Amino acid sequence: MSPNHHLVTVVLLLLTASQSGVARSPGGRDPCSVSDFKVLCRSVVKGQKNVNAATEVSIRELMKRTKKAKEAAASGRKSGGGLKTCYSNYDSALENLQKALNDIKKNDGFSLNINLSASLTEFDTCNDAMAGADASNVFAKSTNILHEMADNCLALSTLVKQ
Ligand SMILES: *[C@@H]1O[C@H](CO)[C@@H](O)[C@H](O)[C@H]1NC(C)=O
Repeated sequence: MSPNHHLVTVVLLLLTASQSGVARSPGGRDPCSVSDFKVLCRSVVKGQKNVNAATEVSIRELMKRTKKAKEAAASGRKSGGGLKTCYSNYDSALENLQKALNDIKKNDGFSLNINLSASLTEFDTCNDAMAGADASNVFAKSTNILHEMADNCLALSTLVKQ
């Protein structure tokens, strides 16, 4: 073996060792097993076992879909009602989700939980405001999925180290 090969081996060993220190779900299991909406959770997390990464990807996907729903609510919000509530709640939810992403970066599981709970409440209120809507209402369906995704994010975040 050339000295370069030795170096590569040492670097690989170090990488492997540091990865085992990364937060994983208990026993390296599927993090989505703690979520309420498991099929939805798995479709977003796609086999990621690292709990911080799984939580982050879930928050990012939720933000992406919230921005789309916000655009969809924009035109109808002037007539008041549920769309008006949802439009402004989506804005606050996006702020809280952005904070949550920063909390993950800072490894602050405690604040992460607070900021994700706040966003879940925003989605809840929007959902309630749309509760009277026709069941075939496409917008009402999408707000329900956002609520489920926020619920999943909060469940995943409980696995992130405090
Ligand atoms: C998350 O929320 C807590 C409590 O409101 C706050 O102290 C913390 O700074 C927030 N995180 C960020 C990144 O703002």
